Amino acid sequence: MAGVEEFFGSPGKIAMMKRSAALSTLLKDDPRYAYYGRMVGVSDPTGDIAETLMALAHLVGASATYYYPKTSADSLFRNFAENGYASDRHEHYWGGHSAYVASQSILAEHALPEDLQLMVIDEKTPRSLVAEVAGLCQSCEVMPVPGSTMRGRARRGINLIACDQHGRPVANASSFVMHHPKSPYCNDMFWGMLATREDRRGEKLALVLGAKVIVHMWENEGARGFTTGVRDDNAPSKSLCNKLGVTDSDWVFAQCLDTEILGSSTVTK
Ligand SMILES: CC(C)(COP(=O)(O)OP(=O)(O)OC[C@H]1O[C@@H](n2cnc3c(N)ncnc32)[C@H](O)[C@@H]1OP(=O)(O)O)[C@@H](O)C(=O)NCCC(=O)NCCS
Repeated sequence: MAGVEEFFGSPGKIAMMKRSAALSTLLKDDPRYAYYGRMVGVSDPTGDIAETLMALAHLVGASATYYYPKTSADSLFRNFAENGYASDRHEHYWGGHSAYVASQSILAEHALPEDLQLMVIDEKTPRSLVAEVAGLCQSCEVMPVPGSTMRGRARRGINLIACDQHGRPVANASSFVMHHPKSPYCNDMFWGMLATREDRRGEKLALVLGAKVIVHMWENEGARGFTTGVRDDNAPSKSLCNKLGVTDSDWVFAQCLDTEILGSSTVTK
């Protein structure tokens, strides 16, 4: 099965995702761990969190904790550095019912341009199209999850794309289950992988796709929270998230990286 699985990205990131997929199989019954196809993360950042993140990074190249207090982030990153690990930080944006309401009102006001067709990636989607969507994400510096996640097989969720009249994907938005059913955060979904081809930006594609994904997950998958990591200097993403009711919180996504194993100093934009 591993041979036919769809992974995308640099060789280092593909190797990291393969190792993470294997590790997630071993950890799947432990509510402490979260996973949606990139790296194995930690849902509950208490106790021996620094040691746990460094061990995970040492095994696969990268790890992350969600819900990590902003006030303690610097000291966590210092701890990583003192032990020879790199780090990366995304602000932990989150939206609950306000995201659902904002998304509904956006969809009442905006639609996709008429030349674009909406599609959900599933088991029947040709491998070539899934690879093109992954290529679109990479061209926007967004790390695509494996095909098994995009297709909704490895995780419940949705991967929505807009295709032009040539059948080419021009925009992407995704949301997947990320936490264990026994985690206190089990109804918080990963939401993101927002990517719009450069020549189609500013047409509200990300706004509409992002809103559709939120409404779908709220109404069909029991989502009650949407979580995404945003770099502090990514103004377009911050503004987009705010419009969708997904806003900054008191937390960060704190990543621990073994750059030698990963082969780069970031996982995603
Ligand atoms: C972020 C991104 C997905 C936005 O895609 P898009 O389809 O052009 O966005 P939309 O047209 O739907 O814009 C919706 C809102 O986002 C904000 N926005 C989008 N582009 C912006 C920009 N360049 N500067 C500031 N705000 C911007 C605005 O609030 C906009 O609403 P408005 O049109 O009423 O002003 C796109 O710029 C992209 O692919 N960037 C690279 C990848 C990335 O950063 N992804 C997010 C990772 S967290």
